[in-house]
Amino acid sequence: MTEDSTRVLFVCLGNICRSPLAEGVFRSLVRTREIEGSYSVDSAGTGAWHAGESPDQRSVEVARRNGVVLAGRARQIEAHDFEDFDYVIAMDRQNLLELRTMAHSQQGEAYLHLLREFDPEPGDGQVPDPYYGGPDGFELMYVMVNRACEAFLDHLETRQPDGATNDG
Ligand code: 4NP
Repeated sequence: MTEDSTRVLFVCLGNICRSPLAEGVFRSLVRTREIEGSYSVDSAGTGAWHAGESPDQRSVEVARRNGVVLAGRARQIEAHDFEDFDYVIAMDRQNLLELRTMAHSQQGEAYLHLLREFDPEPGDGQVPDPYYGGPDGFELMYVMVNRACEAFLDHLETRQPDGATNDG
């Protein structure tokens, strides 16, 4: 991470299905665009049940089939994340609600968004939780996450240098 990198944290419930995929896809995109030095990327869950676990094998597989390697271990979001990251990006509205509640009691200045706010085909604005569903849910999740991450990165790359954007 460089001093002036843009710090992005992707957040879902368990940090084993959706947010590790978003983290891996985003890392892959910045590497492909040769701008990885400009970004610091991580993921976390609002819940702690899976803390310490590797990503769900179904997410690992759908990522691998699309040339994306998932790494890292699940962790629960902590108060300091709202200071340590510039953008905290939620997968669904329940995640966002919990993040807003946490952020209000912190002094952090992270921008909170739903990932699919950036999706050119936003649907209902959420990446549905695929955990209890079948394989199709993981395929669909990949398509949504990949398309939204591309658009989110485009958005970040076209920000004004003085930070004058509609973010927030
Ligand atoms: P994620 O998926 O939030 O995308 O990581 C889930 C993983 C685990 C559970 C729910 C959602 N769970 O209930 O254990």
